[in-house]
Amino acid sequence: MRILGIETSCDETGAAVVEDGARLLSNVVASQTAIHARYGGIVPEVASRQHLRQVGPTVAAAVRAAGRGWRAVDAVAVAHGPGLAGSLIVGVNAAKGLAASLGVPLLGVNHLEAHLYACWVGEGEGGRPPPGDDDLPLMCLVVSGGHTDLVLMQGHGDYRLVGRTRDDAAGEAFDKAARVLGLGFPGGPAIERAAEGAPSGPPLPRAWLRDTDDFSFSGLKTALLRRARDEGVYPADASRPAGPEGVAALARAFQEAAVDVIAAKTVAAAERHGCKGILVGGGVAASRHLREQLQLRTSVPLTFPPPGLSTDNGAMIAACAFYRLRAGDGTGWDLDVVPGLRLG
Ligand code: KG4
Ligand code: ZN
Repeated sequence: MRILGIETSCDETGAAVVEDGARLLSNVVASQTAIHARYGGIVPEVASRQHLRQVGPTVAAAVRAAGRGWRAVDAVAVAHGPGLAGSLIVGVNAAKGLAASLGVPLLGVNHLEAHLYACWVGEGEGGRPPPGDDDLPLMCLVVSGGHTDLVLMQGHGDYRLVGRTRDDAAGEAFDKAARVLGLGFPGGPAIERAAEGAPSGPPLPRAWLRDTDDFSFSGLKTALLRRARDEGVYPADASRPAGPEGVAALARAFQEAAVDVIAAKTVAAAERHGCKGILVGGGVAASRHLREQLQLRTSVPLTFPPPGLSTDNGAMIAACAFYRLRAGDGTGWDLDVVPGLRLG
């Protein structure tokens, strides 16, 4: 079964064709990053209008690249939440029109669940099969610009939220930290580049919230801001230039503090719930430092999305939809967006 997946929940317009939930036939992402970079963050109104311009060409390009034409599309899936309402509406409307005109089923997909299914997609012969009952339960870390959730996966479609951020999402914290350090948007990759080879400086504080599986990043963000002010990095102090080394050391300290907590708490939650593996999804899953730190701290199998499928894309939507359709899920033509949709 070939599914066309459409993703417009935030600032990437994504479309992809995936066969049987695993084989990537095409994947096209039109990023709005350069447009939002001017404002230092995502402007919702600008995002929806950009999706409106991009969704048609992006979907057409994905179907063309899959090489089998429109008639080979067996179902259309779309992220209907969580995300920005105006952005989600663009994708949902496009998906409805396409599914109706092709005469194929329509399926609304949870964007957070889809981030996890990105882990099993691959090119060529396809990704690996998702876990069977013997490999469950899994501890799933969904770590993106909007979410930092720890979700216990007990089966396909069977999730329980065990921990979440109490304030900023991890990706959001990276984006804000990068703005303070003048490193641009999106912040995660910018901080990762700046931190590479940086001198190690005094550490920044960690919020452990030890009695829970919850996270908090606002204290770390405030501590970074204070340190950046003290060192003349923010706002830039011409009389006391910090120099690129000062910025790099702060980027490194921030990345280390954020990743230390995420990795340690994920591994602890996996152990506490007797999990047989850890699954990581969402934009921050692209962080090499996070991958290394998780690998160092756990002996259970770790699964990450393949390169390019950590951040938002249509392939993860199509992959997730395959398992939902197989389980008998369906969506009516009255499908609506759910900006606050949760997982578990
Ligand atoms: O999943 P995603 O594309 O969009 C949302 O659903 O939010 O995640 C985007 C987030 C951004 O906040 C970005 O800074 C972060 O993922 N990110 C990273 C890295 N690459 C992207 N954070 C840390 N390290 C990275 N290498
Ligand atoms: Zn996302």
